[in-house]
Amino acid sequence: MEMTEGQIISPMETLHSFDAKETNRIWSFAECKPSDTAKWTHGYHRYPAKFIPQLVEKLIDEYISNENAHINDPFYGSGTTIVTAISRGFKASGTDINKIAYLITKVKSTPINPIYLDKKVKQFLSNLETLKHPNTSLFEENIEPLVPKGQLERINYWFSEENKSELGKILRVIYNEEDELIRDFFLVAFSHILKNCSIWLQGSTKPTRDLKKKTSRPYEALRRHIRRMQNGNKIFYGVVPPKIRDNTNDYLNINTADAKCQPVPDDNVDLIISSSPYVTSYEYADLHQLSTIWFGLAKDLNEYKRQFIGTSYKKYENMELRSKIAVDIVNKMFKKSKKMAKEIEAFFIDMEGVFDESFRILKPGGRCCYVIGNTKLKGVEILNAEVFAESLQYSGFTLDRIIKREIPSKILPQKRDERTGRFASNDKANSEAYPVEYIVIGLKG
Ligand SMILES: C[S@@+](CC[C@H](N)C(=O)[O-])C[C@H]1O[C@@H](n2cnc3c(N)ncnc32)[C@H](O)[C@@H]1O
Repeated sequence: MEMTEGQIISPMETLHSFDAKETNRIWSFAECKPSDTAKWTHGYHRYPAKFIPQLVEKLIDEYISNENAHINDPFYGSGTTIVTAISRGFKASGTDINKIAYLITKVKSTPINPIYLDKKVKQFLSNLETLKHPNTSLFEENIEPLVPKGQLERINYWFSEENKSELGKILRVIYNEEDELIRDFFLVAFSHILKNCSIWLQGSTKPTRDLKKKTSRPYEALRRHIRRMQNGNKIFYGVVPPKIRDNTNDYLNINTADAKCQPVPDDNVDLIISSSPYVTSYEYADLHQLSTIWFGLAKDLNEYKRQFIGTSYKKYENMELRSKIAVDIVNKMFKKSKKMAKEIEAFFIDMEGVFDESFRILKPGGRCCYVIGNTKLKGVEILNAEVFAESLQYSGFTLDRIIKREIPSKILPQKRDERTGRFASNDKANSEAYPVEYIVIGLKG
């Protein structure tokens, strides 16, 4: 189908443009090895549903030709888009409502002089060594662990006494570091090891306890992970253009905020590359609760959860969806579950607001690329990609391109439980998650 600038195509035509789509193998990146997808700083911290950097790189290669480009991601997560933009010498901006995402992305996008970092790491590890009993791996009893006030119950739920005490002592040493960038670097390492050091069921993204789990010892896990991060930083430092290396803050503009409030003036951005949350899939606030409790970041967890798009904590009254395809999905779901119908409605209403904001910040001629998969909940097809394609047009975009890509099984994130819609470990789930997904691209004419 020919799509001309400014033309809004009907919901039927929008749906039809997806029917005819073939998968494009070039966009599968099937040949990528884990060492490619975790290159540079991309391996600093696990993150559910994160991009592979190669996808972001290819979109930038296709759409950006100016040296001073500005790239934005309203849902930066672990910062794949932001890191890639910085690696190219571009301005990078964006938001994520998850406070842990902010910490991870800030640290991953800020190259540190490797010689300075090495000095700091040696100092830090030697400070920790002095906390240990000679000839044993146990930490001295007389150092007061730093366990955040009011969080003791949650921490006891997830950690053994031994690990809790060792982690608390490590955290105290981290907070003694005066250089904020180095302190944050250690905090990311600390955050990453928490899952292995807790009884959180290893293969699960849901907060489930495994009382028989053999947990890692914090100091050793941290030491190993910091070494890995140092190697990643060294290579990243070599890749980032010197003009950015020395003034990263002038190029990096990221916030902990809602995706509908970008920290950017009108008509400023060249390209948006993003993947939104999925409706009722991950509860990101739950997912990162180990870090959130250790860092004392969420005073009121329920209020925090309500700010996340796509969660079961969001509902809107008296707001109307513009997308006809979305209305149809919500009506079908209403017959199966009123609660889930309201959640899906809230998700699409939120996304319409995000697309309006994308339109505001893009330069004329700029594009937004949203990566999204479809799914099935309670027997109802949730055509996220089709809704996105229609909604982008109501926000003012021309539907420029739809790319259908296969997700090679080795990097397929997870499967879903068809009943609840939640991501589940691959052996338990009863429906395929996203064997294919779409990149829906809107053009601001
Ligand atoms: C699919 S993930 C993005 C992953 C990212 N592309 C990466 O490579 O790591 C979606 C993100 O949306 C964030 N999110 C959820 N609700 C949000 C909101 N209201 N505003 C901004 N970000 C939000 C989640 O915290 C999560 O990090």
